[in-house]
Amino acid sequence: MFTDTHCHFEPDYYDDYDTIIQNAMNNNVNRLIVSGCAKLGNDESIKLSSSHDNIFSTVGFHPDQASIYSDEDLYNLKNEIIKNNKIIGIGEIGLDYHYDGFDKDKQKELFEKQLKLAKDVNKPVVIHSRDATQDTIDILSKYNLKGVIHSFSGSYEVAQIYIKMGFKLGINGVVTFKNSNLKDTLKKLSPDNIVLETDSPYLTPHPFRGEKNESKNIYVIAEFIADLYGISLEKLSEITNKNINEIFDI
Ligand code: NI
Repeated sequence: MFTDTHCHFEPDYYDDYDTIIQNAMNNNVNRLIVSGCAKLGNDESIKLSSSHDNIFSTVGFHPDQASIYSDEDLYNLKNEIIKNNKIIGIGEIGLDYHYDGFDKDKQKELFEKQLKLAKDVNKPVVIHSRDATQDTIDILSKYNLKGVIHSFSGSYEVAQIYIKMGFKLGINGVVTFKNSNLKDTLKKLSPDNIVLETDSPYLTPHPFRGEKNESKNIYVIAEFIADLYGISLEKLSEITNKNINEIFDI
């Protein structure tokens, strides 16, 4: 049995959530952690986790919300987190310097507000970091938090830094891409440091690229990773579930 530790559900992505959830269950993906990035995604993830025993949520404001969110939004989110025990983490939050027009200072401010929030409510964090590795490390090192580096694709050296800080690496379909070096990095690391995620509806694994991704595709990533480490799917399931329990109160 596997857990999809990072997926997104919004009405624009899927016509029918029930089918997506059932497809996951039919492919031995028995737990989902649904991640919110903005108001709508947060609401959807809370709704799903509140209505399904095996679905959990993380909530937060993605760096692309840095000029959109309000302090009232964060205040409301905090109140929701305190009263809802199916919300198991803060994320995805972080820094994204990939697209033109980003405001570094505003992103850092939003990121730090949410790291403080995570401290206040004593929850792990789910980190989005794109083209912003050094700033992410500098900021995270000020907070003694554990969590997941979502969609990790950095170097072995960067992986070591995150692992020492108490983070697991979120591994998704990117590892199966022909042009990715991630598998070489992972081979040098113990599987004790990873959790599996789809980031659906994005990042569909090879050989299904071009199709919309969904949580059932954890099995494609799991088969790839089990093969990479030369271990059985059962062993990988055992290891990754233990890793999840080290981060999330699930
Ligand atoms: Ni995501």
